Amino acid sequence: MTAPDNILQEVAALRREINHHNRQYYTLDSPEIPDADYDALFDRLNELEQVYDLVTPESPTRRVGSEPLAQFVQVTHEQAMLSLDKVFDEQDLKDFESRMKKRLGSEASLEYSCEPKVDGVAVSLLYLDGVLKRAATRGDGLIGEDITHNIRTIHTIPLRLDTQGLTGRLEVRGEVYLGKAGFEKLNSQAKRGGGKIFVNPRNTAAGTVRQLDPRKAAKIPLQMYCYSIGLVDGLEMPGRLSDVFGLLEAWGLPVNPDRSVEMGVDSCVEYCLDLLDKRNVLNYEIDGAVIKVNDLQTQLELGQNARTPRWAMAYKFPAEEKTTQVIDVEFQVGRTGTITPVARLEPVFVGGVTVSNTTLHNMDEVKRLGLRVGDSVIVRRAGDVIPKIIRVISPEKNVIARTIVMPSHCPACGSVVLKEGEVLYKCSGGLICPAQRKESIKHFASRSALDIDGLGDKLIEIMVDQELIFTVADLYRLEESQIRKLERMGPKSAQNVIAAIEKSKQATLARFLYALGIREVGEATAQALAHHYQDLQAIIEASAEEHEQIRDVGPIVAAHIEAFFRKEHNLSLIGNLLQYGFSLKRETISATSDTLAGQTFVLTGSLEQMSRDEAKAKLQAFGAKVAGSVSKNTSVVVAGPGARSKRAKAEALGIKIIDEAAFLALIEGLIH
Ligand code: IVH
Repeated sequence: MTAPDNILQEVAALRREINHHNRQYYTLDSPEIPDADYDALFDRLNELEQVYDLVTPESPTRRVGSEPLAQFVQVTHEQAMLSLDKVFDEQDLKDFESRMKKRLGSEASLEYSCEPKVDGVAVSLLYLDGVLKRAATRGDGLIGEDITHNIRTIHTIPLRLDTQGLTGRLEVRGEVYLGKAGFEKLNSQAKRGGGKIFVNPRNTAAGTVRQLDPRKAAKIPLQMYCYSIGLVDGLEMPGRLSDVFGLLEAWGLPVNPDRSVEMGVDSCVEYCLDLLDKRNVLNYEIDGAVIKVNDLQTQLELGQNARTPRWAMAYKFPAEEKTTQVIDVEFQVGRTGTITPVARLEPVFVGGVTVSNTTLHNMDEVKRLGLRVGDSVIVRRAGDVIPKIIRVISPEKNVIARTIVMPSHCPACGSVVLKEGEVLYKCSGGLICPAQRKESIKHFASRSALDIDGLGDKLIEIMVDQELIFTVADLYRLEESQIRKLERMGPKSAQNVIAAIEKSKQATLARFLYALGIREVGEATAQALAHHYQDLQAIIEASAEEHEQIRDVGPIVAAHIEAFFRKEHNLSLIGNLLQYGFSLKRETISATSDTLAGQTFVLTGSLEQMSRDEAKAKLQAFGAKVAGSVSKNTSVVVAGPGARSKRAKAEALGIKIIDEAAFLALIEGLIH
């Protein structure tokens, strides 16, 4: 049916409107209308296109084709898609600048476009008269594959550009990737529906762009960041790469907001370190930064080597995933007897540290991974998160292949191992078990509990093994001469340990309660108990019902607390301890929850006494704001070792910088 003018106008208006809402929804993450209204617009357009035969390939209704391809078609890149040279440290980045200056025969400062190196797949988009005609993979740089059918399913890639009259060919290049949120969502769907778990965002993106069936690709929420223009007819190119980004953005193409223009290589180093600092809060994965000369004429002068430009460099960050081998699996006995499988690994440098063992949590996890001793595995460590094995690779190549089984008897004391609940295994040895005793003494002496300085894990293990101590109460009977005889202990350190043990008798009631290691009683619950009862004897005598009156104490925790204080050996241990003169003071919080209100803190570098999350929680408890980056609104920067760019920025802005000790003093001054 031929369409009357008013229908043609309606169709054009609907396309504009739908494209606008697509951009609001997918690119800007700020939808303006409810999904149902969007669906109504979409359905109306679809209907008109069908009835009046108005379907065009660039219509927003045409993102997903209906049939899988039989095979990929090869695409020859008219301009080769280059790769990047890489460096791993600052000096090499500086050398890169020196080489360029030498080649240019000029000492003049260079301006750079600094960009995140998004961990995805390089893709070339070819627009003809503003309409997306073809998308291709990089392939070997010269010949790639036609993946138009899959790229069309990416909602942030316009099927028609806002190029305002630009005709002819326009090739745009960039990185197609899967965001962290999209990846998490896919995997939680897969877990619920029993589907296949995706290994990581990069592999998923690479697999998806090379799907023959676009309907499958459409289920993966890929995205793209464009970073350059390749082939182009009839466009006066701007002088600087940063202006190219401006053009791409104006045409409606997605560009990375985390890019920056920097003068000189030192500022690029700052950019890289800042980017590394915020790597974990970005919503896409990166494997480094890309530093490019910003001036396009200078790029031309510098030219290229066989496969890499001389004007760009990748500054690689430590990989967050590495392959290694499981040498053995041991079973660790915890404070309460829980037995946990721990994988001993061939040491591997991942996420910035060397990892040689990692917890497997429980036997269900071992089963889920299908793990055996001797397997090659991928270990992931991102940010401060503990390293974990995410996948076994090539299990068929494992020549040792020893199955992992839970021992029937405790590896530390030989008592029978009992199964508790669905996945938990426990040593039945109780106080007989030296591993359980060691762990409970370690907990008792730990920083958040009685904070006995100098009484480290190793020393506790030696003391238990040499039967110097049996329970925590024995610590208070120790004499300096006994400690001095131990391995690597001099008179001075022995004296210090004795003094620290003595000092621990000043612990507050809350810390003492926490140190006892009652099941499910963490620091916060211990504080709540201390605050509520104010007295140890009252806690001992109280019933589970009374504990439940406390906010955040549920029936399970309440039952654990009551059960703990009904056990004879616990009461006798407490009696023993008290006889040494514990003062069990109440902890009074002199500050209120808004003492630090209006102040913004930035935490940077590594903190040794507590995790960043703990520090953040403490600050927030007093009403402070904790920000991710330094600005003129920052009140205080807490800088631990390794802090660089944020410290430098704070110095430049004249913002107060304190170290961890000063930070702890500040917090302790608020609590006393
Ligand atoms: S520029 C001539 N910029 O890194 C320059 N590449 O190892 C060629 N990549 O194949 C690439 N983010 O897949 C450039 N902002 C970015 C990038 C980026 C990620 C990838 C791209 C390229 C690889 C080079």
